[in-house]
Amino acid sequence: MTLSATPTLQAQGRRLRLRTQDCERQFAALWLRERAPDSETLDPQTGQRLIEAAQLPLDLTIEDARLEADRLRLRFSDGHDTAFDLNALLEAGEAVRTDIPAGLTLWDSRLERLPEADFAAALESDARLLEMLEDLHRYGFVRVRGVPTEEDGMQALIDRIGPLRRTNWGGIADVKSVPQAYDLTMTQRGLEPHTDNPYRDPIPGYIWLHCLTNAAEGGDSTLVDGFKAAQRLREEAPEDYACLTRLATEFFYTDQTTRLAGEGPLIELDSQGRLHRVRFSNRTERIPAHDPEVLERYYAARQRFYELITSDELTVHLKLDPGEMLIMDNYRLFHGRTAFQLEGGVRHLRQGYVDRDSTASRRRVLFSQLRAPQLQTQPATAPKEKEELQ
Ligand SMILES: [Fe+2]
Repeated sequence: MTLSATPTLQAQGRRLRLRTQDCERQFAALWLRERAPDSETLDPQTGQRLIEAAQLPLDLTIEDARLEADRLRLRFSDGHDTAFDLNALLEAGEAVRTDIPAGLTLWDSRLERLPEADFAAALESDARLLEMLEDLHRYGFVRVRGVPTEEDGMQALIDRIGPLRRTNWGGIADVKSVPQAYDLTMTQRGLEPHTDNPYRDPIPGYIWLHCLTNAAEGGDSTLVDGFKAAQRLREEAPEDYACLTRLATEFFYTDQTTRLAGEGPLIELDSQGRLHRVRFSNRTERIPAHDPEVLERYYAARQRFYELITSDELTVHLKLDPGEMLIMDNYRLFHGRTAFQLEGGVRHLRQGYVDRDSTASRRRVLFSQLRAPQLQTQPATAPKEKEELQ
């Protein structure tokens, strides 16, 4: 699409204003210089930076800015000349002005179509795998059908995406009721909405939960979009939201051979104020004995957040059948389950973790191979994230 924009130099050339019909963006001259998408600044092979950005003169200015079709040509006071793709530049300017990362669709109990994928199709076809990964990114979960009902039946699809994360529990582990449970997951209790393992570092990125048998009475899965809940909290109770984003709490896990500890806020923002990660694990949270006033504030905020994440309005219910699995974003979703009675039959699920970096990388690589092959030959320039993720 051809865009028209008006570039104007400001602050004696230390800033550039871009105005289009729909928006206005400001850029620092130094940012534009260090992100210059050319082979003098970036290695064409790796896209990695060749110049030392920290040594650029702090009084660097833009001496000339002009549009050439879809490109913005800039000349800097250090003599460097470059041209940006105008769309990419505008998108880069927009990406930091939203409260959620680009490309996400937030949902509640009214979600009409649960994102679904077919195991064999995702194994055999890169296009189907990309669709599955895009849905996983967009909604934070996918239900996959047709998984072999063997103990490690999901392994073949994990191998298509990234390494299985091994923990002290092993690789793919059982989730079933056992007499000597080392975790409440392995009892018949209902589980409140939670994120998994906030006591690990890094916290597991994606949970793969595979159903072998589910004949027990109850044991339905519950899912809540934690980002939707956080957004609601911010709208309804901004002070509670602020409290939960600022005060870090702590989480612990202990068994005979392992002692794990992690910390962080229930709602974590990135450096630009966007939702980055949620945590909730009643079973394992042990907040330090802060000042009583601080704790009173925190407890009220946590209770309000808990009411939201357990509300019918935000909760999607589903029951996994044998041969189905859920892949869940453990940085965004709260998952739980209703209590179950073994008198009704056997309930045996298997669970594994896959990290976020390998999952995101696979999605980006498939996107560039299948949807935008021309990007493969370009060095990494201004972020294409938004374009990639739509
Ligand atoms: Fe869990």
